[in-house]
Amino acid sequence: MLTLAPKIATVRPEVSRSTPFDRLLARLATKTATVGIMGLGYVGLPLADAFIQAGLPVLGFDVDQAKVKKLERGESYIQHIPDEKVRAWRAGRRFAATADVAELARADAILICVPTPLTETREPDLRYVESTARAIAQILRPGQLVVLESTTYPGTDMAFMVKIDMVRQIGYFYPTNRLLLGPII
Ligand SMILES: NC(=O)c1ccc[n+]([C@@H]2O[C@H](COP(=O)([O-])OP(=O)(O)OC[C@H]3O[C@@H](n4cnc5c(N)ncnc54)[C@H](O)[C@@H]3O)[C@@H](O)[C@H]2O)c1
Repeated sequence: MLTLAPKIATVRPEVSRSTPFDRLLARLATKTATVGIMGLGYVGLPLADAFIQAGLPVLGFDVDQAKVKKLERGESYIQHIPDEKVRAWRAGRRFAATADVAELARADAILICVPTPLTETREPDLRYVESTARAIAQILRPGQLVVLESTTYPGTDMAFMVKIDMVRQIGYFYPTNRLLLGPII
């Protein structure tokens, strides 16, 4: 019995060193992480497909309730994502769609895929990114990963996220080449 004590003593410090980000990485590696996607359009929905194919469940959020209802019924509105695919996601419990941002609190990673149309001066209109960032700030928790997929200029992530106090204990990265994302997943 006495010989067990040192073994326990060596295990406990390792457990206590595990950070929320370590736990996120472990959940991603074991495919137990839930991927949240905000903006279920031409970028967001195929991205959901890529994650589901990679074995990760997806929780999609969109402000357009009509799109959310269609997806929940197993219907697609994007040509290269057939209805059958959405129905299979739903039947396999790999995908849910919501218009309630509070549900994203349970997502381990949140990918922002909202529109950034060009303004008259040909700069990205960031109003959708800003409202999305403010919504995420309400539900953000330590260890959540937030990724800005929307097309914009470098520095948007820090300009918005820091301004609204989003950067607390999150692991955060900005993808530089979306064409590589599929193979990486
Ligand atoms: N479509 C492409 O081929 C493509 C390629 C590269 C980059 N992008 C970029 O990706 C981003 C998304 O483009 P897209 O083509 O998917 O746009 P989209 O218009 O097809 O889809 C955007 C979705 O976001 C939703 N939305 C709007 N405001 C929202 C909010 N506040 N919260 C949640 N959802 C919201 C809309 O209802 C819509 O379903 C843009 O920045 C675009 O420039 C698009």
